[in-house]
Amino acid sequence: MSFVNCMLEPSTFKLGTFSTNADGGSALTKVPERWKASWDDVQEAAQIADRAGLDFILPIARWKGFGGETRAREHSFETFTYAAGLAAVTRRIVLFMTVHVPLVHPLYAAKALATVDHISHGRAGLNIVCGWNPDEFAMFGGKLVDRPYDQAAEWADILFKLYNTNTPFDFDGKFYQLNHAITSPVSVQRPRPITMNAAFGPPGRDFAARHCDFLFTTFTDMEAGKVQIADMRQRAEAAGREMGVYTVAHVVCRETEKEARDYYRYYSAEQEDTGAVDYMMRQKKTFSRSHDEEAYRKYRQRFAAGTGTYPLVGTPEQIAQELIRMHQTGFKGSALTFVNYRDELPFFCERVLPLLEQAGIRVPVQAGMQP
Ligand SMILES: Cc1cc2nc3c(=O)[nH]c(=O)nc-3n(C[C@H](O)[C@H](O)[C@H](O)COP(=O)(O)O)c2cc1C
Repeated sequence: MSFVNCMLEPSTFKLGTFSTNADGGSALTKVPERWKASWDDVQEAAQIADRAGLDFILPIARWKGFGGETRAREHSFETFTYAAGLAAVTRRIVLFMTVHVPLVHPLYAAKALATVDHISHGRAGLNIVCGWNPDEFAMFGGKLVDRPYDQAAEWADILFKLYNTNTPFDFDGKFYQLNHAITSPVSVQRPRPITMNAAFGPPGRDFAARHCDFLFTTFTDMEAGKVQIADMRQRAEAAGREMGVYTVAHVVCRETEKEARDYYRYYSAEQEDTGAVDYMMRQKKTFSRSHDEEAYRKYRQRFAAGTGTYPLVGTPEQIAQELIRMHQTGFKGSALTFVNYRDELPFFCERVLPLLEQAGIRVPVQAGMQP
C-alpha cells in the first residue's frame, strides 16, 4: 500500500489540527471542558479529522509547561510516538512530528521519522523547530543558542543525506561529527518526507527557504500576512526553490455570531489562566521571535485563546469567509485549534468544509482521496 502525500497536491487550501497532543491545545483557559489531551480523545479527534478529509495533524513540541492554575501544556505527548500511534488508526491524513533541533540528534530523528513513514505508508511529515524557552532547555542541562539555524542547517543536511545514500558517510561540521553514518530503512517518501519549519523571524525564514517545503508561521492580520508571504517568496527565489507558507488559527464556530463571541469571551477573558498567560507571554516576548512585536501589545486575549494566533470566531459562513481570505492572501493552508477538538471538530467539518468546497478552494473528501 502506498499513498501520495496529500499535502503535495497543490490545488487546494490545506487544513489540519495543531497541538492536540498537549494539555489545553493552544488555549490557556480554566474552563472545565478545555482539552486534556487524554490518548483516547487525541485518537478520536484524529479519526474525526481523517474521516472528514482534513489534510494534516501537527503536534506541538513541548517539554515543560507554562504553569498557572492549570499547569498548561505540562502534559504533552512526545511527537514521534504520537504520530506512530495515530498512523495505525488513520487512513489518509498526514502526520507531522515536531522536532527540536537542539534536543534530538539527526541520526535518531532520521530513524524515527522513517519508521513513522513506513507505519503510515508515506504519510509522515517533519516540522523542524529550534525552540524558544530557556526553562525547557535547562531541563536537559542546555541553553538557548545564539544562532540556532546554523545548527538546524547541519541537522537537516545530515538527515536528508541519510535518506539518500547507501554508503556510510562521515560528517565533520561545527555542531555534528559523524563517523560512517548510515540509516535503514530510509523514508518511503522520496527524496524525504514533507518538511516544514515553524518560525517567524528572518533567520528561520531563510532556513525554511533553503531546506523545507513550507514555513509554518503566525500572522496578525491579512495585510501583515501579505507582506510576510511576499517576503517569503523573495527568500525562496533567492534560494532557487519553491515553497509555501502555512499558518495557524484558533476557532470558535457556532450557529450564531453571538454564541461564538460569548463563548470566546468566556473561555479566553473571564476564564483565562492568568498565571500561564503571563508566563508564556513574558518568555515568548523575551526569548522568541515567533510573533509580530505588535501582537504582544495589542492581543493579550489571543494569547489566552490560542497562543497569539489568528482568531476565527463566528458562524460557519463567517469562518469560511475568513479562510477564503487567508487563501486569497496567499497562505497554502492553516492549522486549526479548538478549546475541545473532539467536541468541536464535527460541527466545523460538517458546516465549514462544504462552504470551502463551494468556493472552490477545497475538494470533497471522496474526490480528494488518494488511491
Ligand atoms: C507557528 C509556530 C509554531 C511553533 N511551534 C513550536 C513548538 O511546537 N515548539 C517549540 O519549542 N517552538 C515552536 N515554535 C517556535 C520556534 O521553535 C522558533 O524557534 C521560535 O519561534 C524562535 O523564533 P523564530 O520563529 O524567528 O525562529 C513555533 C513557532 C511558530 C511561529
